[in-house]
Amino acid sequence: MSLPASVTVVEVGPRDGLQNLGQVLSTADKVGYIGLLAASGLTAIEVTSFVSPKAVPQLADAAETVAGIRSLPITPIALIPNLKGAKSAVAAGVRALNFVISVSASHNRSNVNRTREESLAELAEIVDLAGKVPGVRVRASLATAFGCPFEGPVPIAAVVRWVGAVARLGITEVTLADSVGFGNPELVRQVLLACRERFPGLIYGVHLHDTRGLGIANALMAMQCGVTVLDAAAGGLGGCPFAPGATGNIATEDLVFLCEEMGVKTGVDLTRLFEASRFLQSTLSGVSLPSRVFQAGPPKPRGPISG
Ligand code: COA
Ligand code: ZN
Repeated sequence: MSLPASVTVVEVGPRDGLQNLGQVLSTADKVGYIGLLAASGLTAIEVTSFVSPKAVPQLADAAETVAGIRSLPITPIALIPNLKGAKSAVAAGVRALNFVISVSASHNRSNVNRTREESLAELAEIVDLAGKVPGVRVRASLATAFGCPFEGPVPIAAVVRWVGAVARLGITEVTLADSVGFGNPELVRQVLLACRERFPGLIYGVHLHDTRGLGIANALMAMQCGVTVLDAAAGGLGGCPFAPGATGNIATEDLVFLCEEMGVKTGVDLTRLFEASRFLQSTLSGVSLPSRVFQAGPPKPRGPISG
């Protein structure tokens, strides 16, 4: 069994974690929350999404949120569903764009009201835009890559095909997303191997929801397959409002605990991360964060294993 020496944990709590809540955090609280996440050592943080405020009112203050975190030593990432979102994100000062497109036609329709081909055509325009603004990077997140809430199983060949479609536009970073937790470690292995075999030059990441309790097992398998970019949400919040049955992401606390206990460096201080989750829990009313590691409290320092 081999594991990477280190991984990049992409914190998606401020976007995925907040988009599905029945309450809206104030911009000041979002800025405070992102500051605490940054203080834990997280450097890649998806801070918001530039989407229709009618679709996701929880993140309607995207530009204000980005303005509020400008001084933090992080790479702010923004999710975008279309060219309009890309333009707004870039105008707000974001340089790392995360374009979402679903492998399944029905989820793409439900999520962004487009065919996959229309989304792809829009991605081509976004890549053009990115080429004109220094420093702008676009990665593609392929939603429903391990199963779709409307269509059920998603063929591995379809995942490979859509990875190819975005790669042909010049995308080099691809995140395979398990939007409603249908994945299992064997499926994760097969999908990653199939994609890597066909498109070995890409940087693959995973975005895993823990809907059926296999999120952390899937993350471990992804790392064993060589993945070093993993999304996670502090406290384990999250879920796509346009995917029936969606629940939280793998919790950043749980992922960091898994990694650090197994010798995989994350650069994240778990005790500081708890402060971010405690802040969020005290700010939200009636929400209990599902992270198992957060619920258990800070781990005691490990003693020597042997000798
Ligand atoms: N940011 C802000 N507003 C946007 C926008 C964006 N990226 N894209 C479109 N809009 C606005 C339009 O200006 C228009 O506003 P108006 O009604 O005041 O004139 C309205 O939204 C409808 O525009 P249209 O282009 O017809 O979009 P649509 O109704 O087909 O919706 C999306 C398409 C992509 C904008 C919408 O489905 C969406 O925002 N989805 C969000 C998906 C998401 O966040 N999912 C969770 C994460 S995976
Ligand atoms: Zn998600």
